[in-house]
Amino acid sequence: LSSIEEDLSKIAEGQSITVKWRGKPVFIRHRTEKEIKEAEEVPMSELRDPQTDDQRVKEGHKQWLVMVGVCTHLGCIPLGEQGDYDGWFCPCHGSHYDSAGRIRKGPAPLNLAIPDYQFLSDTKIKIG
Ligand code: FES
Repeated sequence: LSSIEEDLSKIAEGQSITVKWRGKPVFIRHRTEKEIKEAEEVPMSELRDPQTDDQRVKEGHKQWLVMVGVCTHLGCIPLGEQGDYDGWFCPCHGSHYDSAGRIRKGPAPLNLAIPDYQFLSDTKIKIG
């Protein structure tokens, strides 16, 4: 399937799910207020691949982070709720991603990719 629809209503705040899209894992995280605030407060000068938190989410839906779950270093699958930045950690060579999925430490060059997706309603997205 080239596009998939996902129901977000089952994902509680602070939880994530992983779905499969075009053969790749996609992480869908329901971020907490704390995670959002942390991501918004990071100065752009501290980012290797500078993107604001707003650029990583959809307007009006900033609690939802939707990302391709493939490390931008050599393609391992990062682990959620780990690492030094309240985000993801890739155990293969130690890349740390923050609560907006942006690379903060380790060898990965880029933020976790954001797939094409849109909100069909407040609790439903279409990826692809
Ligand atoms: Fe993730 Fe190397 S593949 S750090």
